[in-house]
Amino acid sequence: TISKATEETGHESYVIGGYVRDHILGRGEPKDIDIVAVGSGIELAKKVSGLLPHKPKVQVFKNFGTAMLRAENLEIEFVGARKESYNRDSRKPMVEDGTLEDDQNRRDFTINALALSLNANSYGDLVDPFNGMKDLENKVIKTPLDPDITYSDDPLRMMRAIRFATQLNFKIEKESLKAITRNKERIKIISNERIVEELNKILLADKPSVGFALLHKTGLLHLIMPQLTALEGIEEIEGQRHKDNFWHTLEVVDNISENTNYLWLRWAALLHDIGKAPSKRFDKKIGWTFHGHEFLGAKMVYRLFKQLRLPLNEKMKYVQKLVLMSSRPIVIADENVTDSAVRRLVFDAGDDIEDLMTLCEADITTKNPKRFKKYHNN
Ligand code: CTP
Repeated sequence: TISKATEETGHESYVIGGYVRDHILGRGEPKDIDIVAVGSGIELAKKVSGLLPHKPKVQVFKNFGTAMLRAENLEIEFVGARKESYNRDSRKPMVEDGTLEDDQNRRDFTINALALSLNANSYGDLVDPFNGMKDLENKVIKTPLDPDITYSDDPLRMMRAIRFATQLNFKIEKESLKAITRNKERIKIISNERIVEELNKILLADKPSVGFALLHKTGLLHLIMPQLTALEGIEEIEGQRHKDNFWHTLEVVDNISENTNYLWLRWAALLHDIGKAPSKRFDKKIGWTFHGHEFLGAKMVYRLFKQLRLPLNEKMKYVQKLVLMSSRPIVIADENVTDSAVRRLVFDAGDDIEDLMTLCEADITTKNPKRFKKYHNN
């Protein structure tokens, strides 16, 4: 239908971006398709709707020059091919009409710039000016243009690169990784909502540690969540050492992700030790202690949610509760314990007891943060 409508407009159109990428990778059911029209996206959308039997409603976003309609459970987004130029202080580009090539140039990664022709004379042909196909095969995230330009133009792309590397199990090309490190400070112009959107996608991947290790390596994590990077490192006094709680945390997050897809339980795993950096002390008699870290941790959850503009609702309270209780893994897990304080804890956990047990399990079965760190740095 789109092909027929395209012919009627006398212009060209292509499927582009995530749909093409995921189709080639054989990745799940698509939810949306992006169509780029060399000409007007709005005009093409209206023509497509006219040709469909149920004449779906076309939602027009005049300011962006885009239009959207729903068909067969898919959101189809139409945009006119464009050329973009950026201003240093904003993610909002200046936009002018362009060719398909201009439009591919403005995209974030080579694997997201692949286009499939919908034109009668070349239907189904792949237009791949940056060798995106090769990068898909080699599992590489790479920018079409100089990475310093791509990331500086739209710093959200630094988070997207790391998110795609985590979701798809791809490597970020070396120059690109260096450019992210160089441009990391520019993340400050990105809204917290958008940052959290990417963090959530990283947390929901099979191995979230991949993303957090990359955020850490590039220095982005320190800018976004310094409370987490503060957990890194091992100190030694009088021959006594404590474990590296940063790498331990990432291991716990991976462990728990094998047992649950619930986002907020994964958040609880990520934050379960954050009270340990500010509460760390060395005591001559007992060695390293983190006394009271669970209470401090729960307070820090609130501050972090506020800082990241995450909703301060029941989900936040749930994360707080698990963080507050998670440092008693062994006693809670032992059914024979009759201690009233422990019984109280189990009582307080209420309906969340299963999740608390899962978190505790994930915590105690992580034994080797050092080896884990090495794995990520290779
Ligand atoms: N895009 C971009 N820069 C961004 C966001 C998006 O260049 N900061 C382009 C990419 O070509 C991307 C397309 O717009 O493929 C659609 O973006 P989006 O829907 O956010 O991502 P998808 O690639 O579709 O992936 P996902 O649905 O997993 O987010």
